[in-house]
Amino acid sequence: MTQADLVIINGSVVSHEATQKAAIAIRDGKIIAVGEESSMPPAKEVLDAKGLHLLPAAIDVHVHFRQPGYTHKETWESGTAAAAMGGVTTVFEMPNTNPPTATPEAFAEKLKLAEQQAYVDFGLYGLMAEDNVDQLEALAGCGVIGFKCFMGNTFGNLPSPSTGAMLEAFERVAPYGLRTSLHAETASIMAWRYERLRAAGRNDALAHIAARPDVVAVEAVSRAAILAEWTGARIHVLHVSSAAELRPMREAKQRGVDITSETCPHYLMMDTRDYASLGSLMRVNPPIREASDSESLWEAVRDGTLDMIATDHAPHTPSEQHNEVIWEADCGFPGVETQMPLMLTAVNKEQITLQEYVRISAVAPAKAWGLYPRKGSLTIGADADITLVDLARQEVIDQESLHSYRARATPFHGWNVKGLPVHTLVRGRFVMRDRKLQSDAKGSGLSVKRVQQMPIAQLANSDKTLAAEVAKVAAKREVLTS
Ligand code: DOR
Ligand code: ZN
Repeated sequence: MTQADLVIINGSVVSHEATQKAAIAIRDGKIIAVGEESSMPPAKEVLDAKGLHLLPAAIDVHVHFRQPGYTHKETWESGTAAAAMGGVTTVFEMPNTNPPTATPEAFAEKLKLAEQQAYVDFGLYGLMAEDNVDQLEALAGCGVIGFKCFMGNTFGNLPSPSTGAMLEAFERVAPYGLRTSLHAETASIMAWRYERLRAAGRNDALAHIAARPDVVAVEAVSRAAILAEWTGARIHVLHVSSAAELRPMREAKQRGVDITSETCPHYLMMDTRDYASLGSLMRVNPPIREASDSESLWEAVRDGTLDMIATDHAPHTPSEQHNEVIWEADCGFPGVETQMPLMLTAVNKEQITLQEYVRISAVAPAKAWGLYPRKGSLTIGADADITLVDLARQEVIDQESLHSYRARATPFHGWNVKGLPVHTLVRGRFVMRDRKLQSDAKGSGLSVKRVQQMPIAQLANSDKTLAAEVAKVAAKREVLTS
């Protein structure tokens, strides 16, 4: 029998369907056997995982690592170190850097930085904006993991595309089958209300919600779903924050739109009552809303309306986050390192099952981006992306120990968590071992575009006015997928 590099024994292997006692053998970064310990091949190293659960490692489809352009907040090195420590082995990184990832040149620059520094695998989003519609095919050809469309403004102030630009952009990217992730808040509504609130002298934290009521998300999700339906483009709704936007999402799914969605721990676990103590540290786009919204989001996670959990990891320095004038405080906080402990705590509290957690943290993102079962699954032939967790281990979240060390302030500081990742393997290699970062793994992360096998999208529109463009794109797609 061929020798394995590593055999992990005595652990419980978890999928979205079941948990079973099993050993796992790994060779050349892949899983080569799953089953009885006695059936495992000889190995260079054996890890005893007694008392631990082996999860398909988390895939976080929504992180902001800030490099190039804002390295005083985060870099690829610190961001992916935080991911490794959080049990996350694949991250999809957002294009609101400086320069934004809006052209092949910007993509190439960011790819180089990521390859030099990453501890974990990654995908890079290309920007979909008003002024780069003509760049989308070229970006697809470069190997973006998908596109990001800011329907509403947020950090970086990238101009939101008009509905017209969005429709053409969807037509252009649909033939590639790439998914477009949406910051689904309507810019014009927010700009209008912001002016009104400022004129009325509102500078308090709750004014942030007043500027972005849930109707901005309802309107944006509904509109994007209509455009996706007409073009056949695949879409993903980022950071769902409200009960109200679940309805247009459910309706779009029923109509057959390829629409997926995520929520984040902060929308599930915090609500308006927390603003009194946390103030601007809680400012995030979209805003954290009412307790009743959180309850509906939990329900939607359980019933599958919300497909996955992501973090919107958005580091800013503490001085950028704290401001008495809410409009002046940067939005967001780090999350990639705290997601798993927080969600495993929810598993311990029986808010979701461990199988449901695996579904929302690994299986669903891998499926939505065409990576399954190579990622998101602990089966023979899959990448050995494994997080070993101790469900009984307790800790208090301490922002001083987070690996996003330039931007550590988190509203979860001081929270008790039960359930921690203790080892993280990326393609069979330890990036965290015994809760310690393995610094020799820096630069070993790979762009997941190399393994992507997204199935062909169903093109839906019958309009022929852009047919020549679409034909050109389809021809290029042949090259990409062959
Ligand atoms: O609060 C946020 N901050 N929401 C976003 O969508 C972007 C993010 C950032 O980049 O800071
Ligand atoms: Zn974001």
